Amino acid sequence: MFQLFPTPADIAAHVSAHLMDLIRQQPHAVLGLATGSTMEPIYAAFIAQVQQQGVDIRQIRSFNLDEYMGLPPSHPQSYHYYMQQHLFQALGLDAAQVRLPNGVAPDSVAECRQYSADIAAAGGLDFQLLGIGTNGHIGFNEPGTPFDSLTHVVHLTQKTRTDNGRLFDNPSQVPTHAITMGIQDILNAKQVILVATGAHKAQTMRQLFLSAPTPDMPASALKNHGNARIYVDAAAAALLPPEAFA
Ligand code: GLP
Repeated sequence: MFQLFPTPADIAAHVSAHLMDLIRQQPHAVLGLATGSTMEPIYAAFIAQVQQQGVDIRQIRSFNLDEYMGLPPSHPQSYHYYMQQHLFQALGLDAAQVRLPNGVAPDSVAECRQYSADIAAAGGLDFQLLGIGTNGHIGFNEPGTPFDSLTHVVHLTQKTRTDNGRLFDNPSQVPTHAITMGIQDILNAKQVILVATGAHKAQTMRQLFLSAPTPDMPASALKNHGNARIYVDAAAAALLPPEAFA
């Protein structure tokens, strides 16, 4: 399930081309989208390919994995803001086409229930794009999250808050809670691609390769999915044995 690419740019070109093919075949495709530094070259490549090749994206819909609690969409570190900056504005996507969990919903439990219901009502995810945290989290599903979880509120681990603190003025400003799609929501996607790039993900990739499916390593849930692939660049693959690519 692991596939090796020389650089993040090679992964970006490949994932982007894959998205283009999917949308050409299914103009109503429902996409599960992710945030994080790993996604930035992928979204840049996709924007360029859409503009150069002219695929019709007016009917696509998207659902993001997660959002910090307490950050309004206008907050520069919110995932709403990230998606506008890195993808939605450039593509001219309409607000009705895109959905992220509302991190400032007055009733977060109701918002979670509604989010999983909205994905199901859209017909489910045709494709889910994933990054990975250094502790193996996908979305914000931290170690210990049951594989049958739907969208829920999470208490972020200190490790994740520290990792993500680089994007905030002060690491103490990282919210303590988030709303994330559950692992079951992710596994329900027809197809999944997880992307890991950079030397700081090499140990995580080794643990993921060696791990049987276990909630201790949330990304290992993908081993129970029939159509999930893990794309790594050379740096993230540095600690993987050759048999990982067999
Ligand atoms: C956050 C997001 C994850 C993402 C992870 C890795 O925690 N909730 O969805 O995979 O960051 O981000 P990066 O790509 O910046 O390493």
